[in-house]
Amino acid sequence: MSNKIAVLAGDGIGPEIIAEAVKTIHCLQQDFGFEADLEYAAIGGAGYDQSGQPLPAETLEICEQSDAVLFGAIGGPQYDELPRELRPEKGLLNLRSSLSLFSNLRPAILYPQLADASSLKAELVAGLDIMIVRELTGGIYFGQPRGIRELENGERQGFNTLVYAEHEIERIARSALDIAMLRNRRLCSVDKANVLEVSELWREVVNRVAGEYPEVEVSHMYVDNASMQLVRAPKQFDVIVTSNLFGDILSDTAAMLTGSIGMLPSASLDKNGKGLYEPVHGSAPDIAGKGLANPLATILSLALMLRYSLQQPDLADQIEVAVGNVLDQGMRTADIAETSSSVGTSEMGDAVVAALRALA
Ligand code: IPM
Ligand code: MG
Repeated sequence: MSNKIAVLAGDGIGPEIIAEAVKTIHCLQQDFGFEADLEYAAIGGAGYDQSGQPLPAETLEICEQSDAVLFGAIGGPQYDELPRELRPEKGLLNLRSSLSLFSNLRPAILYPQLADASSLKAELVAGLDIMIVRELTGGIYFGQPRGIRELENGERQGFNTLVYAEHEIERIARSALDIAMLRNRRLCSVDKANVLEVSELWREVVNRVAGEYPEVEVSHMYVDNASMQLVRAPKQFDVIVTSNLFGDILSDTAAMLTGSIGMLPSASLDKNGKGLYEPVHGSAPDIAGKGLANPLATILSLALMLRYSLQQPDLADQIEVAVGNVLDQGMRTADIAETSSSVGTSEMGDAVVAALRALA
């Protein structure tokens, strides 16, 4: 059966990195018998430029009809002055919400070939492999009411609402526990239960669901401590589960531990395993169009798609092996290069395809 993949390149370096992932898909089609139909659609600033909306109706429809979505990046300085509803970020947030992609998996893996890229001492990060499971469709990102209002004295007040219903906590807890079962069976739930009622409920529900997973060792940590522990002794973590905003922040920290945010893929899943796959890094407007971006996070996102949404774990493994082989060959884009010699976006993509073909 052919897989329907929606391809949303977006803004900045998005089109360049997506082109390399598409090359990789073509290689899978030609040499590995993989069947896929690709449908391209506009999102973010590109969606706004095309049809006045960061998430055009046609794009949402294409995504709804697909088995999985491959996503590049969104945003750019030319869109910063637009009203909030029309900004590129809104396109991504609406897409996550419309497709109910509540479970966001953000691995932070240190590639042994890149051990020196981390800003932490090598012994603190050697072998690092953390999975952050971030709740993605609730919390303060979507809570109502929100806005900027005028007080009686004429002063303006900004406000947002941090809410989690039990079913939202339950499903993200289950998702994280399922993942922990496939890994080292340790889960740390991060909250701010010493201050927030919403965290008090979060903790209670996580503990309740955890009761169904006696094999998983569950702990709880306040978010301020978690941010400290992540840079103090990151290898203490296996799986972390946390709310939308805390996960946004902690996943950037965790990404930096690896020293190579250009290497990190992510998956955002609904309850049936349909997902959106995107690199953890953003649209990098400063290097857009220059052929300098690292396409590996996007290519590795494709591997996650094959594993989590398309039931092709062997192909996912092959892509990951090919990426490892390319790193072994010494190929580096500028962001991960230790010396001044580096390759461009398409050279890196070509190298992955060649390495993949060698495994066919
Ligand atoms: C991320 C990004 C997004 C978020 C932005 C672009 C809306 O920072 O995916 O982490 O805050 O979720
Ligand atoms: Mg973020």
